[in-house]
Amino acid sequence: MYGVKITGIGKALPTLTLSNNDLAEFVDTSDEWIQTRTGIQSRYISTGETTTDLATLAAENALRESGLLPSDIHLVIVATITPDYATPSTACMVAERIGIKHATCFDLSAACSGFIYASEVACSLIRQGNYQNALVIGAEVLSKTVDWEDRNTCVLFADGAGAAIYTRTHDNKIIKFCTVSDGEGSGLITLANKDHCNRFYTAKPSSPYMQMEGREVYKFATTAVPQNIKDVLSDTDYTLEAIDWFVLHQANERIIDSVAKKLKVDETKFFKNVAQHGNTSAASIPMALADAKASFKEGDKIVLAGFGAGLTWGSMLMIW
Ligand code: ACO
Repeated sequence: MYGVKITGIGKALPTLTLSNNDLAEFVDTSDEWIQTRTGIQSRYISTGETTTDLATLAAENALRESGLLPSDIHLVIVATITPDYATPSTACMVAERIGIKHATCFDLSAACSGFIYASEVACSLIRQGNYQNALVIGAEVLSKTVDWEDRNTCVLFADGAGAAIYTRTHDNKIIKFCTVSDGEGSGLITLANKDHCNRFYTAKPSSPYMQMEGREVYKFATTAVPQNIKDVLSDTDYTLEAIDWFVLHQANERIIDSVAKKLKVDETKFFKNVAQHGNTSAASIPMALADAKASFKEGDKIVLAGFGAGLTWGSMLMIW
């Protein structure tokens, strides 16, 4: 079996930022409510940038950092729930734009756990010897999925992309994954595909907007994530106390603080950038990595953890 390590990380954002006060101009909310409940202060929202645009830019930044050429990449996975097209995949379009030829390219749908799921697939295939270098991207334009009159969702979700290059190595740095799902919670966060094209369709059309049972999702996240972090560390040489950084899906500061409290870990070990980015689903963990990496030292032990629709959740243990 080969080892794997990260050799490049990049992120990309749309140009428009919207503050909580900007939102309060057209929806019944307030800066105070949003900050108290979520920690979010502002977010980046597309004015035309597509999921493919943001994914491509993040990938170019990661590739530049890795020092690799497009021709060195033979596997591209894009984790997204907001692809520009059902087909072709975002991964195929990103590969074409960057100049990656003849790679295995596909999209993966696991919502806010998407980057962890996609990383597990990529690292497993590299470990087996199938590929030398893989590009894994989390990219979302969630602004096209929310009802901008629904204060329950439009204040939470935002746009962006993050990317990581995984490379085969003899010096393994990606220690373990622990991914889980539970379809019994599939109704808690939903985003329907359009069903209006079928002229014979008689059922009531689904809402075209993102729907979320916020309180239930909060309970799920604050219960499942601490256990999942314990599970990813079990049967390894690493204890909870030995972990230097925790990079969780950036959905809500209260969720991150609650996980830290339940694990009895110092809150300062939990990286946060949700205040400036909002919830960007599959993009949030690689974007957080891009922002956090300046603080990482060689040899730091890091746990990444995602949770979201599906329900899906999962953690990854790595050494920087
Ligand atoms: N501004 C003002 N008031 C609001 C807003 C708003 N933006 N949104 C809701 N409210 C009101 C509600 O109408 C409700 O009023 P009521 O009591 O008169 O009915 C009140 O605030 C409380 O609403 P709750 O939904 O109970 O608020 P809560 O404290 O649970 O916070 C939140 C809501 C922030 C969504 C929280 O439940 C949460 O963070 N849940 C987790 C979301 C998450 O992590 N998702 C990740 C996965 S996403 C994915 O996979 C794509």
